[in-house]
Amino acid sequence: MTRLAGRVALITGASSGLGRVGAERFAQEGAKVVVADMADGNDVVEAIAAAGGEATFVACDVTDEASVQNAVQHAVETFGGLHVLYNNAGVMLGDDDNPVTTSIETYQKTMDINVLGVLLGCKHAIPEMLKSAEQSGQASSIVNVASFVAHMGAATPQIAYTASKGAVLAMTREIATIYARQGLRANALCPGPIMTPLLAKFLSDDAKRNRRLVHIPMGRFGEPIEIANGALFLASNESSWMTGQSLIIDGGITSAYVTPE
Ligand SMILES: NC(=O)c1ccc[n+]([C@@H]2O[C@H](COP(=O)([O-])OP(=O)(O)OC[C@H]3O[C@@H](n4cnc5c(N)ncnc54)[C@H](O)[C@@H]3O)[C@@H](O)[C@H]2O)c1
Repeated sequence: MTRLAGRVALITGASSGLGRVGAERFAQEGAKVVVADMADGNDVVEAIAAAGGEATFVACDVTDEASVQNAVQHAVETFGGLHVLYNNAGVMLGDDDNPVTTSIETYQKTMDINVLGVLLGCKHAIPEMLKSAEQSGQASSIVNVASFVAHMGAATPQIAYTASKGAVLAMTREIATIYARQGLRANALCPGPIMTPLLAKFLSDDAKRNRRLVHIPMGRFGEPIEIANGALFLASNESSWMTGQSLIIDGGITSAYVTPE
């Protein structure tokens, strides 16, 4: 349980859902974790401490540059450096639908949180991550959360969300290329549907659930820990020759043309 020993990891959106499970998993592996979220994450910090790990909470709105800058500063001041940035915060808004019906407000808000939020995280973390890479002699790692919908059109439309995740994927490749020789790796993590508060509100009845399940060859939704383990691989030195890639964890969705009963 030492795959992130001595590493400092800042995780956005870590107060709930995939970010929270990721924070607990990273801490189990020895990372010092910065839980950065708009919502209170002190219970995550307490849970990590109770399990023998180390974490701190900082209030952070990823769309607000000063707030993101403050979160990075908090990481460096509290734990002495920054090796991993897990840009996990993201939203899928209730009225995000097809291109004709989706409001521009919904599009804009989605892009602000899901794309600008990732860019601001990178903007303020990268200078510190480069310093920490030099000091530790091991590349720092950015993990940007996209989605399987960055790779294929979804039958159940959420056009703003899909556009935002495509942007995250493209931005990740470029960041990876720019810093490939400077001790910084960047990869995208692309989950399929996972039962978290984000998805639960869209799957309120059996008909909605089955509409999605029919596309998943493995016949079930993913578990948050299955995404956290992928993030851990990308964050740790086990993926040391991997940059600019997209790790798709989706129960087979993106490999299937049709799915068996
Ligand atoms: N759940 C899925 O099926 C699924 C699938 C593919 C990708 N994803 C992606 O995984 C990531 C996490 O999703 P989740 O399912 O855990 O969502 P969630 O809604 O359960 O949690 C998201 C967290 O982000 C925080 N957040 C929202 N806006 C923020 C902001 N402006 N600043 C800081 N924090 C903010 C929320 O407070 C919350 O704690 C998102 O990027 C999402 O798009 C989720």
